Amino acid sequence: MPAGDDLKMHGWETRPAEAASLRAAMSYFPTGVTVVTTGTREGTEAMTANAVLSVSLDPLLFLVSVHRDARLNTRIRDEGFYAVNLLAADQEGLSRLFSSPERSSGLPAMNSLGGGFGVTGAPLAAGAMAAIECEVEAVHPGGDHDLFLGRVVAVHMGDARKGPLVFHEGSYPTLGGSQRARSPEGSGAFVDSVRGFDARMGRRSPRGGGR
Ligand SMILES: Cc1cc2nc3c(=O)[nH]c(=O)nc-3n(C[C@H](O)[C@H](O)[C@H](O)COP(=O)(O)O)c2cc1C
Repeated sequence: MPAGDDLKMHGWETRPAEAASLRAAMSYFPTGVTVVTTGTREGTEAMTANAVLSVSLDPLLFLVSVHRDARLNTRIRDEGFYAVNLLAADQEGLSRLFSSPERSSGLPAMNSLGGGFGVTGAPLAAGAMAAIECEVEAVHPGGDHDLFLGRVVAVHMGDARKGPLVFHEGSYPTLGGSQRARSPEGSGAFVDSVRGFDARMGRRSPRGGGR
């Protein structure tokens, strides 16, 4: 059977490998939202980012992907450090502000953040759930983005009671009862008959013979 027919038979709608397709697929992948800052005081630069990743625990390494043309990109290169502020559920406004090309740098940006300064001098966002400060270890090219690999030099815990700000399908949904109450039965093939693990139950099947 030709590959296209097999994919169709299994319910896939295969799209061309292009930007719009990748964007559409990744819109189904909910993420947290951060504001990444660098510089200090009147030198403040900040940008909303969700392409962030905790890379390694030993040594402690963290990654932020920043568009090559973004103002933040050259500023992080100049400063050699950045702070990643993990936004709380009520900080959609801050996310919108720092993803706007019209936003200010410098003192107005610092005042909008309003959370003081970390050990690197980077401004922190008041009300964020946590902030992670890094010193740049390496910059790797990633197409139209650059990947800033940082050594974590400080971790600040804020107030996590409101839960995270979430970005999904191009907007900021509220995590509500429907997500929490979702049935573990759901759909999909997630019984591993060889190892006897039934993911729907969250435990080994009594009939299972696996370790
Ligand atoms: C939820 C969200 C996440 C984003 N994540 C990133 C990201 O990880 N990296 C990036 O370069 N831009 C990201 N952006 C886009 C930038 O915030 C936006 O394009 C910004 O204006 C770029 O900075 P500039 O105005 O200096 O070019 C994101 C935007 C939103 C709304």
